[in-house]
Amino acid sequence: MAISNSRVSIFLSSILLLLASVASISGSDDSKEFVLTLDHSNFSDTIAKHDFIVVEFYAPWCGHCKKLAPEYEKAASILSSHDPPIVLAKLDANEDSNRELASKYAVRGFPTLKILRNGGKSIQDYKGPRDAEGIVEYLKKQSGPPSTEIKSVEDATAVVGEQKVAIVGIFPEFSGEEYKNFTALAEKLRSDYDFGHTSDEKLLPRSGSSVTKPSVRLFKPFDELVVDFQDFHLDALEKFVEESSTPTVTVFSKDPANHPYVIKFFNSPNAKALLFLNFSVDYDVYKSKYEEVAKEHKSKGISFLMGDLGASQGALQYFGVKEDQVPLIIVQTTDGKKYLKPKVESDQIASWIKEYNEGKVPAYRKSERIPESNTESVKVVVADTFQDMVLNSAKNGYPTVYFRSASGKILRYDGNRTKEDIIEFIQKNKDQAAKEAVLQSSIKEELGKHCIEGTEDAGGSSRHLRVHAAAILLSLPDKGIVTCLGSPQSFPFFSYFLQLPFPLHSRAPFL
Ligand SMILES: *[C@@H]1O[C@H](CO)[C@@H](O)[C@H](O)[C@H]1NC(C)=O
Ligand SMILES: *[C@@H]1O[C@H](CO)[C@@H](O)[C@H](O)[C@H]1NC(C)=O
Ligand SMILES: *[C@@H]1O[C@H](CO)[C@@H](O)[C@H](O)[C@H]1NC(C)=O
Ligand SMILES: *[C@@H]1O[C@H](CO)[C@@H](O)[C@H](O)[C@H]1NC(C)=O
Repeated sequence: MAISNSRVSIFLSSILLLLASVASISGSDDSKEFVLTLDHSNFSDTIAKHDFIVVEFYAPWCGHCKKLAPEYEKAASILSSHDPPIVLAKLDANEDSNRELASKYAVRGFPTLKILRNGGKSIQDYKGPRDAEGIVEYLKKQSGPPSTEIKSVEDATAVVGEQKVAIVGIFPEFSGEEYKNFTALAEKLRSDYDFGHTSDEKLLPRSGSSVTKPSVRLFKPFDELVVDFQDFHLDALEKFVEESSTPTVTVFSKDPANHPYVIKFFNSPNAKALLFLNFSVDYDVYKSKYEEVAKEHKSKGISFLMGDLGASQGALQYFGVKEDQVPLIIVQTTDGKKYLKPKVESDQIASWIKEYNEGKVPAYRKSERIPESNTESVKVVVADTFQDMVLNSAKNGYPTVYFRSASGKILRYDGNRTKEDIIEFIQKNKDQAAKEAVLQSSIKEELGKHCIEGTEDAGGSSRHLRVHAAAILLSLPDKGIVTCLGSPQSFPFFSYFLQLPFPLHSRAPFL
């Protein structure tokens, strides 16, 4: 069964994937460029000379790189007069001689920005905005101390804020092993969270419980809002931050504020429970029951998400279920098995999860059978073979788009990554491929619903740079080739739809 007649078959006349991003270049007039241009011959020397340097790995064809370029240059010019100067550099990662470097730095999409400290000994992903002002702001903070001292209520407000996770260390004095470990934690996680430290707990918002010994207080915009922790072993601290900054129930809706948590949900190694319902009707009734179940399963290898029907089309299609089956609960395990119960009532959730845990719920399958003969030029990719046929064939290490024509020619695509250019390239090189593609119209409709056109970078100006648009090129019988882009909200389900072992926006390791 399936995506309403749907088969998760994907006919790829080629094997190609994706990925739009941002980065790069040109603007070649004669004025001084503040962004350093690096290549394999001088990369290491340059990095070694700097305590703090940012490197943008870009590709000349990448549209988002082009969009970033003027902003990056402007930021570089502003930051050049910062004290001490903050240096921004760039490397053409598409250039063959530079590819080794790109692969050393695990570059899997463009643009990728890395913050290198300490002569390159410490490497962090840049997770800031992409406009000049935002870049400047973020990098000033990143180049300063990892934790800000809080001396006033205003300082506290600046660190803690209303809508984010922030972590504050409370210490009688700023010395000793606890303080050292806290600072090490802040250094390690500084690109993900804001850190502060204070000797006066009363300055902090939402205060209430006072602490007398060194303590770490995590502020968050959900669940219990404030959590204290007193084990200063580094591993314990990190685990505490990781767990406490994850909502008991992740909410998936059209609200972008939930987005970072949805990404976290999909990045988690846990099994995933997803409850889909119409928020405007059933939210209140289900929320508390579901939360109870989620609390009960905290730290038991299962994460919980609640999705609004209005934002979950992609997911429902992926699971091959219909809107009228909601409220619907689905569990997907790390090995890809699925379990589901349509029309679940709020007070059935706990017992159903219990049955699932006891192995009493049969797994649900939607993928088509693997075709016995699969030698046609147009491959039929079903969920079970996607990994082998598509992912494992992208051996190059990062998002190179390949096109495999009907006669078996493998061509690397180095053109601009616009839909038109790619279509033109494929049309020119396709031999018989597109003609042989047979796609049921039902599937085409499904794809139409899934796909929106465009190349917007979903990461945009949010702090979560890792959210990127992903494009899958598909062959359709009468449309030729289309680029299919998921809406930002549907990325997690896109990954699901394609049975990727991770979400697309996590900079997939296969690319
Ligand atoms: C690195 O080498 C390239 C190619 O020779 C050159 O264009 C670039 O300016 C050099 N960069 C630095 C920082 O020396
Ligand atoms: C600081 O962290 C290290 C490494 O985890 C640990 O060995 C040490 O006991 C910690 N110090 C305190 C006071 O917890
Ligand atoms: C949710 O329910 C309301 C009220 O019945 C309805 O108007 C709305 O269309 C439903 N939303 C979706 C996405 O079906
Ligand atoms: C890519 O697009 C730019 C204009 O945006 C154009 O000048 C350039 O020739 C294009 N490159 C290729 C390979 O099509």
